[in-house]
Amino acid sequence: MVFLQKHAQIALGYFLIIAALGVALRLFSVFDMPITYRFVVHGHSHIALLGWVYTGLTTLMYFLFLRKKHLGRKYRILFWATQTTLIGMLISFPFTGYALFSILFSTLFLLTSYVFTFLFLKHSAAVQRNRPSHILLRTALWYMVLSSIGPWALGIIMVTLGNDSHWYKNAIYFYLHFQYNGWFLVALVALFFYLLESMSVTLSRQNFRLFYNLLNAGVILTFFISLLWMEPHPVIYGLAALGGVLQIGAFTLLFAKVLNNRFTLAKRLPSSTKYFLKLAAICLAIKLIAQVMGVFPAPAQIISGNIDFVISYLHWVFLGFVSVGIFAFLNHFKLATISKNVTVAYMGAFLTTEVLIFYRGAVAAFDAPPLPHLNLWLGVASSLLMLAIGWMFLQNVISKSN
Ligand code: HEM
Repeated sequence: MVFLQKHAQIALGYFLIIAALGVALRLFSVFDMPITYRFVVHGHSHIALLGWVYTGLTTLMYFLFLRKKHLGRKYRILFWATQTTLIGMLISFPFTGYALFSILFSTLFLLTSYVFTFLFLKHSAAVQRNRPSHILLRTALWYMVLSSIGPWALGIIMVTLGNDSHWYKNAIYFYLHFQYNGWFLVALVALFFYLLESMSVTLSRQNFRLFYNLLNAGVILTFFISLLWMEPHPVIYGLAALGGVLQIGAFTLLFAKVLNNRFTLAKRLPSSTKYFLKLAAICLAIKLIAQVMGVFPAPAQIISGNIDFVISYLHWVFLGFVSVGIFAFLNHFKLATISKNVTVAYMGAFLTTEVLIFYRGAVAAFDAPPLPHLNLWLGVASSLLMLAIGWMFLQNVISKSN
């Protein structure tokens, strides 16, 4: 348990580092900074997805399904090998962008993530395998493996078609989509099912099958949203919209189950867990609605040409649904302590950054009146967000070392 708390602290450490890199990016347009913007974006995004989220989720998965399997030594070797690749990426990406060492470390990371998938599939207990939470976690891992086709393809595309081809952009979108709409989303849903199962709240077999099919059809079809920037055939718009609607159907089914069992859940879940889960659910609901609204040709055109709308949507998902979801489970299973005070500071700063980025997008898209010093205020709000994450990290490092 103690070593897994250390791993959770390492994940939070990455969270703090990516926040600092994010602040540097936001202040880039305000002050002279001795950085190459695109290189720092690569460092920030890789460490965010692979350092913070991957380490957080795999630590939870190991804790819940593998810790009694006597894999201690093997798992530690794998964990530290993975960390070596992450530190390698952290040192190389911000200074060199895509170059020899960053490509080498990110490729090695992919291999370590395959080994984790293998360990999980091979070693989790037979009795757990039929549980919806386990079925969903296996699916989440397959989405992670599927997403990795993106980076492999990127190498081939760079050599053959070059960075300017449509395929290059689509390979990145494929990777991002199956990371956050596949692996992260399904893994967090699986962890929620684990909580429900621990309180004997279960969907009937038939309802689970329906939920599972709707969820997965949604994950696959919403990939088409990532292709709308090319203004494709209307069928692609239709499939993207269908994906969004099916996903809303899946979560409505799950929400109905939660509503029916609200008294059991209210009694048995600690108030902090309920609080985080509600916040994550609100962020998810807004994401699901935005997803459907964004597939109509006119908004799709505006969004794909407006980097601020894209970044505010992505960070809504990452800092809202995904990160708050991870807080919920790390805190619930006592792998980390995320206090309510720190969460209030985090949410306040996060919402402020979202409003400001969105407003900057609206200035460009709809000629909204420009706000004076908007970039500076965005840098200030992002710095406050970084301080909240720093506070969260320190609370864990200090409380665990006492
Ligand atoms: C903690 C505060 C954060 C700040 C201040 C921040 C800030 C930024 C900024 C300024 C960019 C560059 C946008 C551009 O010009 O392309 C960016 C990109 C990105 N961020 Fe964050 N970020 C934060 C957290 C996160 C988290 C938690 C994640 C994921 C878990 C994340 C994932 C990404 C990704 C994937 C991109 C690249 C998007 C693209 O290339 O289209 N960020 N972030």
